[in-house]
Amino acid sequence: MEVQPKSSRKEKKAKRQEVLERKKKIDKLIQTASSEHDHLSSFPPFRRFDRNGLCVALESGNGDKLSAVLKQYIQNLLKANMEGPFGEEWPEEEKVKRREMVSPEARYIFVKEESPEADNDKTAAFVGFVHFRFTLEEEIPVLYVYEIQLESRVQGKGLGKFLMQLVELIARKSCMSAVVLTVQKANVAAMNFYTSKLRYTISSISPSRVDPLMGAEKSYEILCKAFDREAKVALEVSFHVKPAAKTSNQNWDIGKNPAVTLSYSHA
Ligand SMILES: CC(C)(COP(=O)(O)OP(=O)(O)OC[C@H]1O[C@@H](n2cnc3c(N)ncnc32)[C@H](O)[C@@H]1OP(=O)(O)O)[C@@H](O)C(=O)NCCC(=O)NCCS
Repeated sequence: MEVQPKSSRKEKKAKRQEVLERKKKIDKLIQTASSEHDHLSSFPPFRRFDRNGLCVALESGNGDKLSAVLKQYIQNLLKANMEGPFGEEWPEEEKVKRREMVSPEARYIFVKEESPEADNDKTAAFVGFVHFRFTLEEEIPVLYVYEIQLESRVQGKGLGKFLMQLVELIARKSCMSAVVLTVQKANVAAMNFYTSKLRYTISSISPSRVDPLMGAEKSYEILCKAFDREAKVALEVSFHVKPAAKTSNQNWDIGKNPAVTLSYSHA
């Protein structure tokens, strides 16, 4: 058996220690972010949105503290907005979303319309919500947007952009290194919203970037916006290996398929 020099063993031990320390630090970050009671409290200007004839108020919520009315509201809105993009996958997806919705890790921002006749809060009605979580992707602490859902009558008035700006601020304030989310490919409007308007990119962990063949079979993409170099490397930069040999029935046309690159590229 080969005996390792003492210095090499020491180095390995130090490296292990470093990895452990880093993991501990990141776990603590996620724990701290998740235990914050009201993420809106740090951003008072974001408590209300009053633009384009729409006047709404925002409030925080937790997955394990949803009232029966709110649960029903979330389910109805999800069905109204997402049954189309999910197509035949919807019945299965609906079950998954019902479980995710009430998870203790789920954090919410609810959007309530303020009517001029409102007496206290009684006539205020929900018009949308964001469901997000603090989690790890590729060992990077991220804010993952599980859902952003607005009723059709309040869409296209700048509210979605406003909510995503808030989400990014919450992520940065909570020391997360990126915002990550999943979009159905069939949801062309949402895809445009994230990529063209909010400058999200298809992540290197998205199936289409990991393996173009697998990506073609999947109905979704994972998008991200990274805030620091480490997160950019882990989540935005794609490393792809050039195929060893081209066989007659493969078409590795690099020019046509941006996911197949020779060295590495920004997604
Ligand atoms: C996707 C969604 C959150 C966007 O929110 P929104 O309030 O409708 O969008 P905004 O009004 O904030 O639009 C922001 C910008 O994106 C643009 N935009 C909005 N919808 C767009 C679309 N369908 N195609 C292209 N651009 C679009 C707007 O023109 C606006 O651009 P501007 O800042 O230059 O004016 C909202 O439409 C929604 O809830 N859709 C249904 C549910 C859904 O698909 N959720 C996403 C699941 S991943």
